[in-house]
Parts: sequence; C-alpha cells; structure tokens
Amino acid sequence: MCAAPGGKTGHVYELAGGRVRVVAVDHSRGKVERLREEVRRLGHRVEVLRADSRRLDRILGAGVADYVILDPPCSSLGVIPKVWDRKTLRDVEAAARYQRRFLRAAQRLLRPGGVLVYSTCTMTLRENEENMRYAVEELGLRLEEAWPRRFSRGIGFYGEHAIRVHPSIHRATGYFIARLRKPGG
Ligand SMILES: C[S@@+](CC[C@H](N)C(=O)[O-])C[C@H]1O[C@@H](n2cnc3c(N)ncnc32)[C@H](O)[C@@H]1O
Repeated sequence: MCAAPGGKTGHVYELAGGRVRVVAVDHSRGKVERLREEVRRLGHRVEVLRADSRRLDRILGAGVADYVILDPPCSSLGVIPKVWDRKTLRDVEAAARYQRRFLRAAQRLLRPGGVLVYSTCTMTLRENEENMRYAVEELGLRLEEAWPRRFSRGIGFYGEHAIRVHPSIHRATGYFIARLRKPGG
C-alpha cells in the first residue's frame, strides 16, 4: 500500500527471490508510471495497480494477503537533510487520521495470521505509537518484535516492540517501523 516510487517493493521482491506474488499500489498517476518503469528496469514480475489504498480490501478482496507493507504519507519530520519545514499539530493529526484509514484497510486485507509492516519517516507519537495503539485496541492486531534491533525502540508500551531510527542518534533518516499480526490462521 502506498508503494511509489517502489524502494520497498523492489527490496521485498528480491528478498523473496521472486517466488512471491507482489502487488504494488499507489494512487498517483505520475508516480505509478514511474513505479512501472522501475519495475521494468529491474526485470521484476510485480503487478502495479493504480488505486486508493484506503479501499484496497474492497478492490483485491478481504483476507487475501499474507503480508502487507504500509508506508503511508506522513508529516516526514525525520527526513534529513531538511533545511526548513513547518508542520502544525493540526497537520500531524490529519496525517494520523489518514494513516488510520490505511490501517483499517490493511487489517481487512490480511488473512488470519498475516503480517503487516507499518513504517513512517516521521518522529511524532500520533503517527507512530498512538496509531499502533489504535491498531491493537481498535483493530485487534497484535504487535510483534520488529528487527533489526540495532536502532532504538519505540516510545512507551505500544512502541516497545517497534524500531525508531533517530536522526540525532543514528545519523540517518528518522524512521518508525512496527510489525503487527492479525490473530488466527
Ligand atoms: C512515503 S511514500 C511511499 C514510499 C514507498 N513505500 C517506497 O518505499 O518507495 C507515500 C506514497 O503514498 C501514496 N499515497 C498517498 N495517498 C494514497 C492513497 N490514498 N492510496 C494509495 N497511495 C497513496 C503517495 O502517492 C506516495 O507515493
């Protein structure tokens, strides 16, 4: 979900040695074109779909995915180098609400026992740990240990299994990565 320009798509395809069905979805016409070019350039067999990921369970069907990678738009406060930016609390809350729409669709898209990896390139609790609380308490997903463990853990109870990359500590783009599982299966 939210796959363009396709860095993670190409990476998972190669990690799986091409022995998987990968569907990469983005809603932007221009970005989907570039994603298709990238898939062709790499010689990957990936299906690229232009669609709204908030409705993906209705488009592809509920319970069809073994894995979902959700890398939604975010307030991008971890991106470096960043010379100047202005984000208000209202922007952050709007981003967090938008992300929860994708989380809901991802939960329905997964088969029981399926795994969701959620990531953002921002540092706010609202878009990270608090959205994980939503995924656990409202959507019934279970948080699992994310790895590698060489970075920092997330903040508080809903972050303890997640990864945080802090620009100030790790000298890399700030990132939050969590792994969740849909019970059952
Ligand atoms: C953080 S970027 C994804 C980067 C990508 N995962 C990668 O690793 O190359 C977020 C993407 O979400 C897409 N997007 C935003 N709203 C969307 C929606 N409703 N449905 C599908 N894609 C959406 C944007 O077009 C953008 O390409």
